[in-house]
Amino acid sequence: MMKKDEVCVIGMGFIGLTLAATLAEAGIKVFGVDVNQEVVDSLSEKRCYFYEPGLAELLIKYGGRNLTFSTNIPDNSCGYYIICVGTPIDPGTGKPRLEYIQNAVRSIIPFLKKGDTIVLRSTVPMGTSRNMVARMIESGTGLVSGKDFYFGFVPERTVEGNALYEQKFIPQIIGALNKESETKIAGLFSKFNKQLIHVPDIEHAELCKIIDNTYRDVTFAYANQMAMICEELGLDFNIIRQACNNNYTRNNIPAASPGVGGACLTKDPYILIDLCNKLEINMELIRSARKINEATVFHLAKKVLNRLAALGKNICASKIFIMGFAFKGEPETSDMRFSTTIDLINYLKPFCSNLYGYDAVVAKEIIESSGARTCSISEGFKNADAVIIMNSHMSHKGLNINKLASSSNTPLIFIDCWNLYDKEKIAKYKNVIYSSVGLY
Ligand SMILES: NC(=O)c1ccc[n+]([C@@H]2O[C@H](COP(=O)([O-])OP(=O)(O)OC[C@H]3O[C@@H](n4cnc5c(N)ncnc54)[C@H](O)[C@@H]3O)[C@@H](O)[C@H]2O)c1
Repeated sequence: MMKKDEVCVIGMGFIGLTLAATLAEAGIKVFGVDVNQEVVDSLSEKRCYFYEPGLAELLIKYGGRNLTFSTNIPDNSCGYYIICVGTPIDPGTGKPRLEYIQNAVRSIIPFLKKGDTIVLRSTVPMGTSRNMVARMIESGTGLVSGKDFYFGFVPERTVEGNALYEQKFIPQIIGALNKESETKIAGLFSKFNKQLIHVPDIEHAELCKIIDNTYRDVTFAYANQMAMICEELGLDFNIIRQACNNNYTRNNIPAASPGVGGACLTKDPYILIDLCNKLEINMELIRSARKINEATVFHLAKKVLNRLAALGKNICASKIFIMGFAFKGEPETSDMRFSTTIDLINYLKPFCSNLYGYDAVVAKEIIESSGARTCSISEGFKNADAVIIMNSHMSHKGLNINKLASSSNTPLIFIDCWNLYDKEKIAKYKNVIYSSVGLY
């Protein structure tokens, strides 16, 4: 393989590492760069520092061979540079923070040469690739974009927990500066993915990513809002949703949830809101959706406290057992970023000193740092006054609730936020009160 085909991936987070491993698996020589020494040390020792199915195996297979890690950009050897650093939202201003990208660009500038290809993969506000990244490279290197170096944006759309499969089998959208850039980028991505979608320019590709994620956030907000209405009316949202969707292909109303977590859906709509503000376009739909999704977990927390109080229980002494700390249960992940379970615990903590937690994937120390004591599922049910299932992890399914609840305090409030259990069946257990999101 010629050096011009070697790839430097900048940012070894969830996204950069899964892409780097996929490229290595495709036989490409890959240099993974991260500013975090601990991350680099861990990966150099072939230890994956987060859970993603199959990733540890790829690291063992290719690590130290065609996949190496460093805090420094390799000296003048790569033909491709793919930027995968984070783009969090500033909680104060609600605007995306782009300094990680700027730093990443500064770090590669000394190594760029004629003929190189640079791809931005991080989620960014529209215009960032062309107006910020390409310009920084031009002024830092003296090279002309589209002529001396090739450039484009390829959004990352994989789902955590199934990212390695999706890198290869969901379409990759390519937005490039010009035809030559598109050919270069397609040449690399076609080595591991056969479904390449070409959009007319970089800006279309940038907006694809934001529109994708905002669409999901808005539909989830719709379900969560309807669920709240159903709770007030004494109806069951899940029954209504299933009846609406049943053999009626025009609808696909999503399930309600205890809020929307994760690093992407909680942030990307804000990038769109910021754009709408600049364009002076009404963005109430997007903002309202975000607000609904952010409020959902507090609605749940209030419900738990109200129900305990209505049963005459001493809230402070009540034992609340929470299952599921990762921001989602399936596909399985250890990612806790913006997990609504943390919001739930923060809300409950001032009222209740008896919080217990379980997660099949998240490390015990992380659960404990949230303020909940860790325990097994059977220990959690023991003497519990309320049990809340916060994500749909497979270990939460198919449990013998009747048996587990026999060791709980009476009655047990069982909040099955993902409708994992048959409520009619649970209603027959004399000590259990069944509830979910969308069913009071
Ligand atoms: N996590 C997801 O599922 C997902 C999905 C689609 C898109 N994205 C987008 O991909 C981007 C990366 O997300 P992530 O979840 O991998 O982020 P992350 O925070 O897990 O990883 C970012 C990594 O970049 C490193 N880094 C920061 N500045 C650097 C620099 N100058 N040079 C080298 N390394 C640097 C950090 O140390 C960190 O390890 C974000 O824009 C995100 O919105 C993420």
